[in-house]
Amino acid sequence: MLQNKRILLIVSGGIAAYKCLELIRRLREHGAAVRCVLTKAATEFVTPLSLSALSGDRVYGDLFSLTDEHEMGHIQLSRDADLLVVVPATANILARMAQGIADDVATTVLLATDKKVMVAPSMNVRMWEHAATTANLSVLRQRDIQVLGPNSGDMACGEFGEGRMVEPDEILRAIQDHFLDDGRLTGLKALVTSGPTYEPIDPVRYIANRSSGKQGHAIATALAGMGAETTLVTGPTQQRNPSGVDVISIETAREMLKACENALPTDIAVCAAAVSDWRAEESADKKIKKEGDPPSLSLTENPDILRTLSNAGNDRPQLVVGFAAETGDVIAKAVPKRERKGCDWIVANDVSTGTDTFGGDTNQVHLITATSTESWPEMSKQDVAVALARKIADQFNRPAAAE
Ligand code: CTP
Repeated sequence: MLQNKRILLIVSGGIAAYKCLELIRRLREHGAAVRCVLTKAATEFVTPLSLSALSGDRVYGDLFSLTDEHEMGHIQLSRDADLLVVVPATANILARMAQGIADDVATTVLLATDKKVMVAPSMNVRMWEHAATTANLSVLRQRDIQVLGPNSGDMACGEFGEGRMVEPDEILRAIQDHFLDDGRLTGLKALVTSGPTYEPIDPVRYIANRSSGKQGHAIATALAGMGAETTLVTGPTQQRNPSGVDVISIETAREMLKACENALPTDIAVCAAAVSDWRAEESADKKIKKEGDPPSLSLTENPDILRTLSNAGNDRPQLVVGFAAETGDVIAKAVPKRERKGCDWIVANDVSTGTDTFGGDTNQVHLITATSTESWPEMSKQDVAVALARKIADQFNRPAAAE
């Protein structure tokens, strides 16, 4: 199933670099074409000659080599690949990737690419646990870079702990999984809402909530990654616009509804936004001054976007998925919510204080349909998004590529 897939393997200078030899062999056995880029430090651990012999291609590594640039420029290297995999990914290359530093072929290609990137970290446990590495990883994950492992175990430096690179088999499986979903939703249109809404009180104040938009944006990324023509309608967030997605930025619930209605018809709608239930009945044109008694705020209900889409008659997307943010008794509250809203599925999660759901990087959800409730383990929001997109592809009878 990796037939005709082009993998660009970026090898950085860690002791686990020798494992990339086995990985190249396995990838080629499965039909993939492998091309390698080595950092300078990597050449201390593996030789260009052995990588070239195994990959059956030349190996790239010198940014200022006229011959290399003439034969294959660094931009072309990333254009020609279907997937980039950094094996092993040292603390150093992860830091350079997070900072956008491009000072050798490896990091220049990584900065220039718009293709999916996976990294397999490998380092000493203390380097892995260092706040700088944690922060770099968090930045990379936000950019949809898939992090494989690391595992824990005995290390080459004599210590024990997390930081051991995952085995070539696990990397191979992740690569196969990636291509399994390739194009599964091609030909379908999807609409996703994400983030909070801001409801103005006056020109400087507004009503909002703690939604980060991480889950909604990850869902749009996953659907687009599987080939759906995806529109993301989002309230104000710090999230990067997912590539290949039509992003419409709004502030209020009423603007979100209008943008969603304009995006119809679609086959799929996923409402992950934390829409403010209420808005100020009247928002002041001028800043409300402090003099006198505190003003009272009169609220009125906002339109319910999920309910509107679920009841859109001929325009109703074939599959409408809502979210249920609950504090306690999650499933018991979400089951009737699905019926009330008229959507097909509800993804229910616990947003109680201390769960880290709002704003955090992980989510533990229950997928509730008309006939079943599935409780998923706690996963990264990206993994929840991919799992949901796979369920959607199954629902549309879009089989995964044959293994
Ligand atoms: N939702 C929406 N428009 C609204 C309110 C909510 O589209 N005005 C959507 C959310 O995007 C989510 C689902 O409805 O998919 C449920 O949101 P939630 O806040 O859990 O439920 P509410 O309807 O607000 O009910 P309650 O706050 O009473 O739990």
